[in-house]
Amino acid sequence: MDFNGKRILLGVTGGIAAYKAAELARRLIGCGARVKVVMTRSAQEFVGPLTFAALTGEKVATAMFGPDSDPLEHVALGQEVDAIVVAPATANFIGKVAGGIGDDLLTTIMLAATRPVLICPAMNAEMWANPVVQGNLARLKGRGLLVMEPAAGSLACGAVGLGRLPEADLIVEAAARLLCVPDLAGRQVLVTAGPTHEDFDPVRFLTNRSSGKQGYALAKVAWRRGADVTLVSGPTNLPAPYGVKCVAVRSARDMQAMVKAHFPEVDVLLMAAAVGDYRPTQVEVRKIKRAHEEMAFHLTANPDILKQVAAMKSGQIVVGFAAETHDLEAEARRKMREKHLDLIVANDVNRPDSGFQVDTNEVTLIPRVGDAVPLPLLSKEEVAAKILDQVVALLESRDGDHAKDA
Ligand code: C5P
Repeated sequence: MDFNGKRILLGVTGGIAAYKAAELARRLIGCGARVKVVMTRSAQEFVGPLTFAALTGEKVATAMFGPDSDPLEHVALGQEVDAIVVAPATANFIGKVAGGIGDDLLTTIMLAATRPVLICPAMNAEMWANPVVQGNLARLKGRGLLVMEPAAGSLACGAVGLGRLPEADLIVEAAARLLCVPDLAGRQVLVTAGPTHEDFDPVRFLTNRSSGKQGYALAKVAWRRGADVTLVSGPTNLPAPYGVKCVAVRSARDMQAMVKAHFPEVDVLLMAAAVGDYRPTQVEVRKIKRAHEEMAFHLTANPDILKQVAAMKSGQIVVGFAAETHDLEAEARRKMREKHLDLIVANDVNRPDSGFQVDTNEVTLIPRVGDAVPLPLLSKEEVAAKILDQVVALLESRDGDHAKDA
């Protein structure tokens, strides 16, 4: 992730998790952001402003009044930066913002702010469960602020429950949504990822080398760009991308059911999963015993999910993937025709640095109409961004056609 010099105002309020905001500031800076910290008075009881000044290289704003304060900061700061992240956000701070109270520098900045805001609550589990707090959060969400769910675990007060500040990596991931151009806002995007597992017996299955990394990168980047994303994933070792609704499946037929259930509601399907083409014809209920020197199995073809959803298409943009070892472009074009795709992403899986399991990919984007676009070796997130650029263009031209027809 590259925040590319964007300016983030990091608001720190007075909960014990304030010390974790120091790590968050470092992570944001590590991603290329410039961070300006504003602390409430109680936050300074937990961590000194000097810590943040040293980490960010910028003066920390702490008060509206006093010899060191800038008389216009309370208006300017929330308008000059690219995004505001408040972590941790206490129940008190959330209540004041919900009620329109500006009784210190940070809450007054929030009243005048024009930039996108991420609120990262952290508090005791009972406070979190308090209907007043939940009502206040609902008001903030209703006003378009992005609110993270706290994590579950042991809390500073000794209790175990919901209320921990989310991990810094997740906050950075959520902040990325504030900083990206929201060119997929309001779009429903369905992504499939990973391999499928096709059982022979209770302990053995047929699968392939897919890691799910390209599909997860697509889900992540689509969410950052404003989409509502559902990820239907075969078994992988990857963490669920923040903000994305995840549906876990095992077999091709499980995946088929989930894709078909979601497809009518979406604008875009990105079918990055490596769906097993065949499954064992018979699944043994008991573990198969070693008996002979040779063994033969019968396999049955799995449903081709993409071919089936093509028949259900009502304006959706459908993107398929072709992992090939030979005749890359010709094979990809054949699949595009057969599966009625709008775009196919072709990759040569012979290369060790491209395709399965690695973090990089070299692909060619082949649209139904127009020339193929060969891309250089890129990270899977960069490849995802290029694919989504084409998807945005396809959605815009679809919407333009609809407008003409109306
Ligand atoms: O024909 P092939 O499996 O190479 O096609 C690849 C594309 O088709 C991928 O987008 C994959 O997710 C999709 N596919 C599918 N159902 C299958 C096999 C592949 O939707 N049974």
